[in-house]
Amino acid sequence: MRRLLIVWLLWMAATPAFAVETHDVSLAQGRLLLTERHEGWGKGRCQSCHVLRMIHGDAPHIRDIVRAKGFDTCGGCHGDNGAGVERRCAICHNPRDLPASPYLTGIHAHDFTIDGDRPLADGDCMICHWAADMDGRWEIDTDLTRFPDAAGFDRPYRRESEFCLRCHNRSHQQPGFPVRARDYLDPLVAVEESWRYMDYHGWAVGSGDRIFAGLRDGYRYGTELACTECHAMHGTDNPKLILDDSRKGAFGLSFRDRGVPVQVFAPGDYSQLCVLCHAMTTPLEDAHIDTGNGLSGVHQVGGDCTLCHTHGRAAQVGL
Ligand code: HEC
Ligand code: HEC
Ligand code: HEC
Ligand code: HEC
Ligand code: HEC
Ligand code: HEC
Ligand code: HEC
Ligand code: HEC
Repeated sequence: MRRLLIVWLLWMAATPAFAVETHDVSLAQGRLLLTERHEGWGKGRCQSCHVLRMIHGDAPHIRDIVRAKGFDTCGGCHGDNGAGVERRCAICHNPRDLPASPYLTGIHAHDFTIDGDRPLADGDCMICHWAADMDGRWEIDTDLTRFPDAAGFDRPYRRESEFCLRCHNRSHQQPGFPVRARDYLDPLVAVEESWRYMDYHGWAVGSGDRIFAGLRDGYRYGTELACTECHAMHGTDNPKLILDDSRKGAFGLSFRDRGVPVQVFAPGDYSQLCVLCHAMTTPLEDAHIDTGNGLSGVHQVGGDCTLCHTHGRAAQVGL
């Protein structure tokens, strides 16, 4: 295998197309970071050689905002250029300039600690999006940082949730990002097992035959849900990073853009979350009761759902 690779590399190096290729940055290939092959590598002042008005002819979707914000933005997309150029994100990704990309409102965000809250900073964005290509399309393998898998390999993600599970596990966490367990079944580390092997949302086996069954438009049984369908990374007022607005998750929901509010009430009343996607086909129990956000169709409204529905609870019906 290795010998074949060497032969292939030699052959590629010998072909002119490969030898003269000097363009690393390519939107089509999903690559924006500069490498040593850049003519200006190691230089910090982009404006000494590049003229704003001359660049980005092939990238109309970002041209205007780069022009407006100027040379402070270059590192955000093209990397530090081997010169420690600052990589700024919030200069564009803020509630004024790109309010929906992403939605950053709310007091809690994925700030890599459960000990307190602080607003996300540029460094946090880069932990999760090291080399996003910013083409306006969500691609898990380009736009999310590739963390090594359980075996230590840099394998592509087959589904978005694998990204989360490369940190949220017991045995193969990423150096620099310790995830602590508050008890043995703490989803912070147990979700890798529970979510794949017991939880209904991570295990595409829903039948739709249960008594309270029924899903809204955009969702069906026999499919898997990404973690971010329910958990908002960029900001929310709810605990445990549960989204507080349908636009921050619920990607399948046909009316998510209406911005249905979601409020979680202690202890464990998640009715407004569940009712985003679930609505009983045969109305039973509390099916008719408005959960408070204008939607109805789940049972036990106002009660503590976690008595029976939490990550990894195999005995009851799970989550
Ligand atoms: C010393 C001059 C010089 C400096 C300083 C410089 N560049 Fe360049 N850069 C070039 C030249 C020359 C090219 C190749 C011609 C072209 O494509 O415009 C280039 C190409 C590029 C490309 C296209 C690379 C590719 O693979 O196609 C990008 C992106 C780029 N520069 C960004 C930057 C950024 C960001 C900075 C500041 C951190 C910077 N440059 C600083 C000279 C410079
Ligand atoms: C929001 C992301 C983003 C920012 C910020 C950004 N660029 Fe780019 N840049 C791109 C994209 C996308 C391309 C297009 C690559 C292609 O044509 O395939 C590109 C291409 C380039 C190129 C080579 C091709 C061309 O269009 O001329 C240069 C040079 C360049 N950028 C320089 C800069 C400089 C200097 C800055 C800072 C003023 C900057 N870029 C800021 C995304 C960005
Ligand atoms: C813990 C990891 C994590 C952190 C930290 C993070 N993101 Fe994200 N981001 C994601 C995931 C996962 C998605 C895809 C799901 C989604 O859209 O919420 C995403 C989606 C996005 C999107 C595209 C979808 C959209 O909503 O438009 C943008 C833009 C984005 N993030 C920017 C940022 C910026 C800017 C920061 C820093 C302020 C940041 N992210 C911090 C994980 C993260
Ligand atoms: C010059 C402004 C600018 C800067 C600086 C910038 N972005 Fe973006 N970014 C954009 C635009 C514009 C989009 C496309 C939004 C759209 O069309 O929906 C985007 C899209 C994204 C996406 C969504 C995925 C995709 O491919 O569209 C992510 C993730 C993202 N940016 C992360 C970052 C991170 C992380 C940084 C800092 C390292 C950063 N951005 C710096 C303007 C910027
Ligand atoms: C690079 C590692 C890393 C990645 C990737 C990651 N997390 Fe985390 N996450 C952490 C760390 C570290 C903590 C804090 C743990 C602690 O304080 O012990 C955390 C905390 C959390 C919390 C608890 C937040 C709170 O304040 O209660 C949730 C929920 C969470 N992550 C979900 C996710 C989801 C969903 C994804 C994927 C979209 C994800 N994480 C991706 C490292 C990561
Ligand atoms: C973003 C949409 C969404 C949200 C929010 C959501 N669910 Fe689900 N749920 C689904 C989908 C889709 C399935 C089908 C999964 C499958 O087939 O494995 C499902 C399946 C289930 C099942 C298993 C059904 C079966 O037939 O086996 C249970 C139980 C369940 N959800 C409970 C909940 C509870 C409790 C909440 C709130 C805490 C909730 N769901 C929130 C979309 C959602
Ligand atoms: C259907 C919605 C849904 C999906 C999908 C989902 N979760 Fe959760 N998650 C919840 C709910 C609801 C809770 C709170 C349950 C409780 O209080 O016990 C929770 C709790 C957590 C917690 C505990 C947070 C804390 O601060 O105590 C973590 C960590 C977590 N989930 C991670 C994940 C990861 C990682 C994934 C994907 C592999 C995922 N979740 C998928 C709804 C979901
Ligand atoms: C006493 C335990 C218990 C409590 C508390 C509870 N549930 Fe359930 N829930 C169940 C059981 C059991 C089922 C499955 C019934 C079956 O197997 O036919 C279920 C099913 C569901 C389903 C249907 C999933 C599907 O598509 O088939 C949803 C949605 C749901 N529960 C939401 C909630 C919400 C929201 C709360 C809190 C407000 C809650 N449950 C509280 C036990 C409970």
